[in-house]
Amino acid sequence: MKPKKQDFSHLSAHQPIGIFDSGVGGLTVAREIKRLLPQENLIYFGDTKHLPYGEKSREAIIGYAVKITNFLLEKNCKAIVIACNSATANALKEVMESVGGRVPVVDVINPVAEKVAFEIHNNVGVIATKATVNSGLYKKTIHKHNKYIKVDELATPLLVPAIEEGFKNHPITHAMIYNYLSNNKLKNIETLILGCTHYPLLMDEIKQYYGNRVRVIDSPTIVANELKMILDRHQILNTDNPKPEYHFYLSDLTKNFEKISKKFFGKSINLELKSL
Ligand code: DGL
Repeated sequence: MKPKKQDFSHLSAHQPIGIFDSGVGGLTVAREIKRLLPQENLIYFGDTKHLPYGEKSREAIIGYAVKITNFLLEKNCKAIVIACNSATANALKEVMESVGGRVPVVDVINPVAEKVAFEIHNNVGVIATKATVNSGLYKKTIHKHNKYIKVDELATPLLVPAIEEGFKNHPITHAMIYNYLSNNKLKNIETLILGCTHYPLLMDEIKQYYGNRVRVIDSPTIVANELKMILDRHQILNTDNPKPEYHFYLSDLTKNFEKISKKFFGKSINLELKSL
């Protein structure tokens, strides 16, 4: 059966884009969206109260992801970006069902896995949360497009709490990175996918570990490009908005979120507490 052609003619370019993650990780995706689509209004939901998603059951992640999606739809978003690998790996189907084709949904695994499958043919490593690794979705999606790529996935669960604690350039994170990346599973990789949107916040440290030996994939840029292409295709790109608005909702206010969101988006952003 041919998939039904999506019709988004009821949407307008001026509606905001909704983005969500468990915490600061999705900000790496939001930052790229802002860079690539500077006139878009953005609404971000950080579910800091339920973080880390990577340690939660599939049922719990589905519950959070669907509630947040419905909230973003109530806020009149024209597209939903699941800026969280753990939510994509466990709740993409349920989020799509609850959206019911009303707006486009962009996730962080499919565009990255597709790009890797079509452009790179070698040994690929994925580091991610337990919830993402247990789903095996990176491997499955890459192999759907190219079964000759060797994919090894490793759970690196301590990185998210360290990042949420603001431990950047810190001996603790250096030790964790060394410990994880020297794991035998990743021994012969030529390409590394950061399968958690928090991890680009440690990009410098990860690149430092590898030098030029391993290509580290820039997932937020791939995801932002995918979103741009979809909005453009459906003629709902906002190109006439010199003063875009950025609104952040958090299920728990954390100092680190405030710090990173201000660093990425400037001081005049709105941070609002919103329990799910
Ligand atoms: N940033 C998220 C991800 O991409 C979730 C991390 C977490 O809450 O464990 O998986």
